[in-house]
Amino acid sequence: MSVKISDFGVLANGTKIQKYTIENSQGTSVSVITYGATLISALVADRNGVFKDVIVGFDDLEGCVERTDYQGVVVGPYANRIGNSEFSIDGIKYKLNSNENGVTCLHSCGEFNTAVWNAELADDSSVEMSYVSPDGVNGFPGRINVSVKYTLTDDNELKLEYSAVSDKKTVINLTNHAYFNLGGFDSGLILDHTMQINADCYTPVDELSIPTGEIASVENTPFDLRTAKRIGDEIDADCEQLKFTGGYDHNFCISGYDGTLKTAAVAFDSVTGRKLEVLTDLPGIQFYAGNFLKGTIGKSGKPMEKRSGFCLETQFYPDTPNHPDFPQCTFEAGEKYHTVTVFKFSAE
Ligand code: GLA
Repeated sequence: MSVKISDFGVLANGTKIQKYTIENSQGTSVSVITYGATLISALVADRNGVFKDVIVGFDDLEGCVERTDYQGVVVGPYANRIGNSEFSIDGIKYKLNSNENGVTCLHSCGEFNTAVWNAELADDSSVEMSYVSPDGVNGFPGRINVSVKYTLTDDNELKLEYSAVSDKKTVINLTNHAYFNLGGFDSGLILDHTMQINADCYTPVDELSIPTGEIASVENTPFDLRTAKRIGDEIDADCEQLKFTGGYDHNFCISGYDGTLKTAAVAFDSVTGRKLEVLTDLPGIQFYAGNFLKGTIGKSGKPMEKRSGFCLETQFYPDTPNHPDFPQCTFEAGEKYHTVTVFKFSAE
């Protein structure tokens, strides 16, 4: 195992951004940068031992700064959407900034993912990124100390360990927004990958992608991914939910949620044999099929076309603060938020 540190670029304000590359004994390597604590690459072997970068995104800082689709970033303090950009805690209403349709708040208006994080080497297989979010940014209460520790194991597991603590009672929901293409970042669309999600239920949304509050069964819907299904098979099915979102972009309720690490999803590319398993101790996972990608130029000067990458964002359900029946993510002042997500790569 080894970690290499290199310069990745300089922001307009003069701040230097570093890249940390962790490599294991199998030759698998992942790179994260201090801007947005972004996962920018993951070199993974296929069934013939051919390594390719399976992360769709940018290979330079300029792209990372100008991006519009949250490629690879850590999102917070509240990943996903909050309806009407408001919520209440103990009778106090918090009005947030809106960055979608003038109504909803998506990914906390991009706070954590545009921040410069401090990086520290934890050991020869881990780098820990940390950031202090000031009280009140975009309307969110609390000064939050947050860290994300990225570890690569010799079993090709990329482990993300999220920790946070606020000085005021607040909502916390952190995720990573990497887009994967198991054929390689430049191998076209992900419609031929299969996806399996261990969820009997999902949270249907309204026209603004805010959960209606219903926990609906996936049975007899395109959301029944309990056995692996080719992503392209039903992504454009005649189904109101898929029309609202332009393809899969929904929160799945992980079956058997009890706060321990469980396999939530398995994606597979039969062409290369690369497989990605996602494990988490969280209750939800957003399967987003990259429907809003629109050809922005990414790595190697190649356009990132619609559906050329998929995201599996482990999370508390979207808009949880406004749905008392969902598993809750409001934390007391001083109470520790700690969750783990594992992206495990293999080939068969
Ligand atoms: C999330 C959302 C999508 C989309 C992307 C960013 O994953 O679920 O609807 O907004 O972020 O493009």
